[in-house]
Amino acid sequence: MIKVEKLYVRLGGSEILKGIDANFSHKHIMLGPNGSGKTTLFRAMAGLIPYEGCIEIDGHPLEKLRGAVGLLATNITEIYHLAPVKALDLLHLFSDITGSNTEDTLKLLEDLGVKRDLLAKRKLWELSAGTKKAFTTALALSSGSRHVILDEPFEQLDPAKKVRFYPTFSYSPRVEDKAIWQGASSYQPR
Ligand SMILES: Nc1ncnc2c1ncn2[C@@H]1O[C@H](COP(=O)(O)OP(=O)(O)OP(=O)(O)O)[C@@H](O)[C@H]1O
Ligand SMILES: [Mg+2]
Repeated sequence: MIKVEKLYVRLGGSEILKGIDANFSHKHIMLGPNGSGKTTLFRAMAGLIPYEGCIEIDGHPLEKLRGAVGLLATNITEIYHLAPVKALDLLHLFSDITGSNTEDTLKLLEDLGVKRDLLAKRKLWELSAGTKKAFTTALALSSGSRHVILDEPFEQLDPAKKVRFYPTFSYSPRVEDKAIWQGASSYQPR
C-alpha cells in the first residue's frame, strides 16, 4: 500500500501539488487533464523530486527506503538514464539489480515488436519515443517489484503495440498480483 498525505511539491518556484491525500492499495488508474500534476505525483512517489508531507510505502516513510530493491519500479525515463550504455546492457544491469529474468523482459519486448538487435545497438536516448516507452514499461513490469508506477504506459506506442500490450495489462501474471497506476490524460470533461 502506498499512502500519500498532505503532499506539497514546489517546482520552478510554483506550487504544483497542494496538499494531496491518496491511498493506493491495489490496481489504480489515475486520470486527469494535462498539467494537473499526475507525473509530478508519480515522480514524488518514486523519490525523484523533493516534497513536503508524507509518502509511505507499505508503512515505511519513502525517505527511509532509498536503495531498497524489489519494492517499487516505474517506467519514468529519468530513472533509466543512469548509465551511458546500450539499452540491452541497461536491461542486463537492471536484471542484475532487481533479480529479474532478462529473457522474460526480452520476450515481453519481442511480443511488443522491440527487437534485441535494436537494443544492442542503441542507447536509451537513441530509441524512438514509442520504443523508449515500451522499453521502460517492460523493465518496470518485469522487475518483480511489489509496486509498479506506470506513467502513461500506452502513450506514444503505435496501434499494433497498444493492441499487444492491453492483454498484458489485463491478464498477465506480471501484473495480476501487483498494484499498477497509470497516469493518463484521456480525461473527458463533461
Ligand atoms: N520541473 C518543473 N518545473 C516547473 N514546473 C513544472 C515542472 N514539471 C512540471 N511542472 C508543471 O507542473 C504542472 C503539472 O505537470 P505534470 O507533468 O505533473 O502534469 P501531468 O498531469 O502529468 O500532465 P500530462 O497529462 O500533460 O502528462 C504543469 O503545470 C507543469 O508545467
Ligand atoms: Mg504526465
